Amino acid sequence: MGSIQPSEQKDLVLPPRPPNLPHPEYRTPRGVSPLDSVRAAGLQYPNYTPFKLPNLTIQPFTDRGLSSSPNKQDLLSAATEIIHLTPEIGTELTGLQLTQLTDVQKNDLARLVAERGVVFFRDQNMDVHEQIAFGAYFGDLHIHQMAGIIPDLPWVHPIHKDETAVNGRSHQIWHSDVSYELQPPGLTMLKMDTLPKAGPGGEETGGDTIWASGYALYESLSPKLRAFLETLEAKHSGLEQAEKALRTSGCLRRDPIETNHPVVRTHPVTGWKTLYVNENFTKEIVGLEKRIGDGILDNLYRTVAEGYEFQVRWKWSKNAVAIWDNRATFHTGIFDYFPHLRHGLRVAPQAETPYFDPKSKTRKEALAEEKGKKA
Ligand SMILES: [Fe+2]
Repeated sequence: MGSIQPSEQKDLVLPPRPPNLPHPEYRTPRGVSPLDSVRAAGLQYPNYTPFKLPNLTIQPFTDRGLSSSPNKQDLLSAATEIIHLTPEIGTELTGLQLTQLTDVQKNDLARLVAERGVVFFRDQNMDVHEQIAFGAYFGDLHIHQMAGIIPDLPWVHPIHKDETAVNGRSHQIWHSDVSYELQPPGLTMLKMDTLPKAGPGGEETGGDTIWASGYALYESLSPKLRAFLETLEAKHSGLEQAEKALRTSGCLRRDPIETNHPVVRTHPVTGWKTLYVNENFTKEIVGLEKRIGDGILDNLYRTVAEGYEFQVRWKWSKNAVAIWDNRATFHTGIFDYFPHLRHGLRVAPQAETPYFDPKSKTRKEALAEEKGKKA
């Protein structure tokens, strides 16, 4: 794998490392993929050496998007092209390097991601240290309860499958990342550095990711159903992941938790309502007969999976980056590349505790109101 050119070979300020990380002697060098350097050091990658972390507690959070200008001019005027990939979700910006963005531009980016659900960039010269520093600007970085890590950079979640991923299709479920947490991630960033050589002649292809807009999906439902959903909470569970960890790697870093979140949440930057239940982690609607709640959830999941008009499918290229809003989108990776290697690195800043503001509006209602004010 080629080396990444970090924009500046200077020390970046990373979050403080937890005190009891395994392999304390290992350090990922700047400008190389940890996929190479961890194994070259003779360590397992991703690394499942067990260690304990304190349970998460509620921390203050202010979304950077609240400091942006509504027209996001500092960011958008610097892009050479703004490509809206579908009407409902997904925008690609060209001509920008994320490592070069000013704080004002990062604030604009937070608003753009909140509005468009997911924003894409290709050909990013950003090594893993820079990626961590970039992500940490937006919130406290999440450390996964059981997934493999980079030994010295535990805030990074390696997305990694190869010839050992015989059950890989079981991961192909629509979800919002770690929604069982007290403060699930908001803006989340994935940089893909190795594409599967899965084409008929060994060409790089496969492993696309699809995102679906929670705003668009929610406003497509009937007003009566929406009014009912807004009264409900659902239980999200990390127990299955924890059980799997204990069965397989034996690496479970925190006590597993189940958390109730509103079925419809309000986005703090856009003020728009979005659907917040997902097939992977939501287990039941609180206070309904299980069979009735499950019937509602199944129908909502089907709308996520089959609502093609709410989706964008992204074809990765080497060093492309996706930044999505886990609060307002669902995603799934397409596992069409077995047994080939696909590898990327994710960082996930945690956001606010999910809430529903009864005065908030659907996206279409809010945009129509805004237009009415201007007219
Ligand atoms: Fe995910």
